[in-house]
Amino acid sequence: MLLERILLGINNKPFTGIKFIQGSVVELVDAPHSKCGTFGFVGSSPTAPIGLMNTYRRFPLTIVRGKGCWVWDHTGKRYLDAVAGIATCSLGHSDNALRRALTKQLNKIQHVSNLYHIPEQEELADWLVNHSCADKVFFCNSGAEANEAAIKLARKFAFYKRGINDPVILTAQASFHGRTLAALSATGQERYHEGFQPLVKGFKFFEYNNYHSFESLLANVEKDGPRVAAVLIEPLQGEGGVIPGSPHFFKKLKEKCSKQNILLIFDEVQTGVGRSGFWWGYEWLGIEPDALTVAKGLGGGHAIGALMIQNCADIFKPGDHASTFGGNPFACKAGLTVGMEINRRELLQNVKKRGYQLGEGLQKLVKIFPKHLKETRGVGLIQGLEILQDSPLTASKLAQTALDHQLLVVSAGPKVVRMVPPLVIKENEIKQLLQKLELSFRDCC
Ligand SMILES: Cc1ncc(COP(=O)(O)O)c(C=O)c1O
Repeated sequence: MLLERILLGINNKPFTGIKFIQGSVVELVDAPHSKCGTFGFVGSSPTAPIGLMNTYRRFPLTIVRGKGCWVWDHTGKRYLDAVAGIATCSLGHSDNALRRALTKQLNKIQHVSNLYHIPEQEELADWLVNHSCADKVFFCNSGAEANEAAIKLARKFAFYKRGINDPVILTAQASFHGRTLAALSATGQERYHEGFQPLVKGFKFFEYNNYHSFESLLANVEKDGPRVAAVLIEPLQGEGGVIPGSPHFFKKLKEKCSKQNILLIFDEVQTGVGRSGFWWGYEWLGIEPDALTVAKGLGGGHAIGALMIQNCADIFKPGDHASTFGGNPFACKAGLTVGMEINRRELLQNVKKRGYQLGEGLQKLVKIFPKHLKETRGVGLIQGLEILQDSPLTASKLAQTALDHQLLVVSAGPKVVRMVPPLVIKENEIKQLLQKLELSFRDCC
C-alpha cells in the first residue's frame, strides 16, 4: 500500500518534511497547511504531490471513507458532508442499495462497446424518458461531455433544419458549462477563458434572467438573417453563485425560442435528478426545454452524463457522435439504481422539506450576521449564502474554517457559500449543518 506521510516540524510555520513512499524517503516536501506536531498526508498539502498535475486547489483534508452524509479523514475524524462530491453523491456515501446493485453488476459485466446492444443502457434510457419530457437519450461520462454533445446537436440542427452555416449559440453571463474547449467557450465567465484563447467561436452572452438583454442580443446576432442555433442555459446557475432562474424570464424565453425555431437546451448537470425537489429544474420553472444535459447526481458518485432530447431535436444519425465509455453497463446500472431509489424512498419530498428547513436556517444566519451576509438563495438542496461584497470574508475562507467544525461546504464564486448535501439528508443532520455553519461564521466574523 502507498504510505505517504510527512514528518512535520514545529512552531506552526510552513514545514519541510520527509516524504515516504512504501517506507522509503523519496523527497523533502513543504506542508504549510499542517499544524505542528501532527502528521499530514501528501494529499493534504496545497502543493502538488509528485505525480499529480497541479490543477486543483485542495483543502488540507484527506477523505478516506464515507457513509450516508458523513465522511471520515485519515485520522478517523468525522465530517458532515454538504458538498457530496459537488452535488453528485445523491444517495450519500456507500449507500447499501447502490453498493449491492453495482457489486452484482461487476460480477455480471462491466463494459461493452456501443457496437452492441446494452440492456442496462436501454433500461436507463427508458427510465429517463418515462420520468422527463425527453423522448431519446445519448449517454456519455460527464457534464462537459453532455454539453459538447448538445452543442454539436444544436449546430447540426441549425444546418439541416434552418440552413444556418455560421451558427451562434446564446448562453448566459456567469454561466458554467464545463472545462472542455467548446463547453468552456460556452461558459460566460472570462476568468475561466484566460490563457485558453482562441476559444471555439460561435458563442455570445446575455444577462441571466434579463429578457431585454436576451432579446437585444438575439436581434443583433440575427440582424442579417437567422443565425442562432440554440440557447444553452442553466435553470439555476450553480457555479455562477447559486442564482435561481426567474420563471417569468424563462416563460418568455421559451415562447421566443419556440416562435423562431431556436433550440432551447437546459444544462441540468447540477440541478437535474432530484436536486431541486423535482426530477428536473425545468419543472419548477414551469416550461419544457427541447433538450437537457445531465450528469453529476445521475450516477450517485459514478461517472455518467447524458444528453436528453425531445423528438423535435432528433437530428443525430449513426456516426455523428459517440463515446467509448458512454452508456456502459456499470454506469447505467448506477443511474438506474439512483433513479429507482429516489422514487422508492420518496426523496423528492425529502429534498423539498430539507431544502425548506435549510433555507429557513440560512435566513436566520443572515439576520445574525447582518454585517457579513447579504442573502440566501436556492431551490431544494442546492442553497447558497451570499457574503456582502464589502465584508473581508470570502467563501473559501469560510469553507476552510468550516473544516475546524467538521463540516464540508464549497464556494460558488468568491462570495457565495454553497451547500449541496446528499438528497438523503435527515432533519437532525440539517440542524447540525446549520449549527456547524453558525460556529464557522462566529470564528470568521
Ligand atoms: C451546470 C454545469 N454544467 C456542466 C458542468 C461540468 O460538469 P463536469 O465537471 O461533469 O464535466 C458543471 C460542473 O460543475 C455544471 O455545474
